[in-house]
Amino acid sequence: MFQEIDYDADKNNQKLETAWLKPGGFLGVHPAIKILGKLMARKKSGSFYMVMQIALFISISGSVFGQTQLIYPGIEQKVDSVLALMTLEEKVGQLNQHSGSWDVTGPIPQDNEYVAERAELLKNGGVGSMLNVVGAEATYEAQKLAVENSRLGIPIIFGFDVIHGFKTIFPIPLGEAASWDLEAIESSARVAAIEASASGVTWTFAPMVDVGRDPRWGRVMEGAGEDPYLGTQVALARMNGFQTDDLSGESSIMATAKHFAGYAFSEAGRDYNTVDFGRHTLHNIVLPPFEALAKSGIATVMNSFNDLNGIPANGDYYLQRTILKEAWDFDGFIISDWGSIRQMINHGYSRDLKQSAYHAITSGNDMDMESEAYQRHLTELVEEGEVDIETVNEAVRRILRMKFLLGLFDDPYKYSDVEREAAVLYTDEHRAIARDVAKRSIVLMNNEQNLLPLSKEVSRIAVIGNLAADKDTPLGNWRARGETESAVSLLEGIEAAVGENTEVTYTEGYTLAEGTGSFAFPLNFPEDDGSGFEAAIENARNADVVVMAVGEEALQSGEGRSLVDITLTGRQLELFKEIKKVNENVVAVLMAGRPIVEPELYEEAHTLLNTWHLGSEAGHAIADVLFGDYNPSGKLPMSVPRAIGQIPVYYNFKSPGRPGTGPGDDGAVFWSHFNDELNTPEYSFGHGLSYTTFEYSNFSLSSSAMSMDETIEVSVDVTNSGDMDGEEVVQLYIRDHFASAMRPVKELRGFEKVLIEAGETKTITFSVNWETLAFYAADETFKAEPGMFSIMVGSNSVDVQVLELELAR
Ligand code: BGC
Repeated sequence: MFQEIDYDADKNNQKLETAWLKPGGFLGVHPAIKILGKLMARKKSGSFYMVMQIALFISISGSVFGQTQLIYPGIEQKVDSVLALMTLEEKVGQLNQHSGSWDVTGPIPQDNEYVAERAELLKNGGVGSMLNVVGAEATYEAQKLAVENSRLGIPIIFGFDVIHGFKTIFPIPLGEAASWDLEAIESSARVAAIEASASGVTWTFAPMVDVGRDPRWGRVMEGAGEDPYLGTQVALARMNGFQTDDLSGESSIMATAKHFAGYAFSEAGRDYNTVDFGRHTLHNIVLPPFEALAKSGIATVMNSFNDLNGIPANGDYYLQRTILKEAWDFDGFIISDWGSIRQMINHGYSRDLKQSAYHAITSGNDMDMESEAYQRHLTELVEEGEVDIETVNEAVRRILRMKFLLGLFDDPYKYSDVEREAAVLYTDEHRAIARDVAKRSIVLMNNEQNLLPLSKEVSRIAVIGNLAADKDTPLGNWRARGETESAVSLLEGIEAAVGENTEVTYTEGYTLAEGTGSFAFPLNFPEDDGSGFEAAIENARNADVVVMAVGEEALQSGEGRSLVDITLTGRQLELFKEIKKVNENVVAVLMAGRPIVEPELYEEAHTLLNTWHLGSEAGHAIADVLFGDYNPSGKLPMSVPRAIGQIPVYYNFKSPGRPGTGPGDDGAVFWSHFNDELNTPEYSFGHGLSYTTFEYSNFSLSSSAMSMDETIEVSVDVTNSGDMDGEEVVQLYIRDHFASAMRPVKELRGFEKVLIEAGETKTITFSVNWETLAFYAADETFKAEPGMFSIMVGSNSVDVQVLELELAR
């Protein structure tokens, strides 16, 4: 029956009236169907009448069966029925995404005429989605403009960068990844989705799944670090938190896997720069998180600003069509990054905006964010026969599919609920979850003298450092709707935690940037004249314990915030060393959006916590760890280099033909090393201490040989040999000794975060089969190759125990 739909119905005869649900008048029928209903009453003959009947049937049957999966027959037919009604201009409109002027992440013309023109476009069905329009009221108004005025009343979707929380702010993603706690990470994304969805946001441009090895690149704060396996697990947890398994749920929002692909490899860590790596790295390092998300139902993928092999990512047929849409069967849609289709001209890849539109649509980019390339040129490209209408149809279909799955055709205002918005934002419950996730994200880097945990009865604590009283920096970059200065500072956290008998004295010590800075402008760092030093030193001299905050302000990392110098800014280190001279009991609390290179700090700070930018509840979470209410359990998701000149330094490197270790190398020169620094990082991937100690024993494999269709068990006993309960992240690494393409010296292939009580022993078991050992081989197939493997378990990527495993054919 469905094959009989006449998709060529004469659209010129459709003198459609505006029709849409009025506020409060929920009818449960999508607008296109309503229009059809009206037409049926008027024009009851010919093929068009049949289209209407069928569409109405589809609408009813679809809602009877309910829609929960990505590809659902009912949905596909509904999509087709709407597509059949659309003019070419309306189709192109669906592919167009505009920004509101509420919040911008790129240049947006401000003159009113322009904005008015955009509003007209919205009314005429010329916009499929908006970004940066946020709030129940604002989105309601924008949605109303679209659905009440446009011919078909197709609802629009509202995208926003909900990167680590919406109003309740969670740790920056790099920090959350340090928790290695997938449940916590999922709960963070869930809370963000509950809040964002109540404020009209249908779609978040997260998670960023770029595997990053270069801390100069400011956007490492948005990712999960340097490892594709950890990155994949974290990405899945975040996607599940945002989308749940039912996109039509009241608080489900679409997630975005970004940036496809290779963006974190920007040369020299300079944002938006060119990238260059081979297929081996593409398949084994860059693509795995994208593949996992695409195959698990992520709704959208955003391509990246960079080129790869000279092809801008949004014009890359191989990436977008051959891999993502064909090989992985991705059924969501691809959005370009801000203005990036237009930027093909700067890349020297297209001569003008029209050619950019051509490249983007033909190579698989479905929606255009803020380039106006499709809006201005796609209709004419189709009319001239340059672009096949089926190419446009495919993109529109993908977008309509998501709108149906979100339930927007049933109720376009479902996300714009003023009451729900007032009830769910920044609640005590959400803040409690943010505190919990934040404390789990903290990494205990050094605790050489067991100074931590502190007693709450200590008589005097000197809190030092501009960042310690800073209520804004903990919110980090990309803080969505988090209110400026709303975080619990470290100072406030300490004050709230200690008993009455403890005196807490604060001195600023050093200065950092002036003002709060703005997303779009560089920070201003005036010279620190050292006038705060004396008071801080005095404060430290008389205290039992000093807690000194050092690090980066919120906007020193993030998009467009690349740095060649990733040491501590200003005179922080100098003051730290002065403080150490008068008081040995110093706890350094590092706050940053990236690994900081500062060997002297790591050497001198015998007690050091890495606290990233932890979000709304930062101060409380740090205090939980400082005073032992929570035993730290975080592990580094990214290596900390010893020197900037080492970058990139990462644990899963391939062995050179002349492997070396560092200066001298036993007197030899011609080995892969630096003459002035070791090869190893300051802190390795996976490093993180606890207030207790864990001992690994009885490491065994159920068999030292296996075939391709067998699974073996790897087990190890982990004993909490200290006197405090604690969580340990038990890590499983492999090494493939010899393969058709070189394999890294270590690759993470499993981990388990487990709570072990003091004195208790737990047996941790991992299953290993061919997939655990597989990789994209020289022939570009995913497979395991027979031979010898090392299987390693341990507490970080360096301290591991090793057993050998033979994989037979
Ligand atoms: C960023 C994206 C972001 C987009 C929308 C771009 O500049 O690269 O990650 O989602 O802006 O704000």
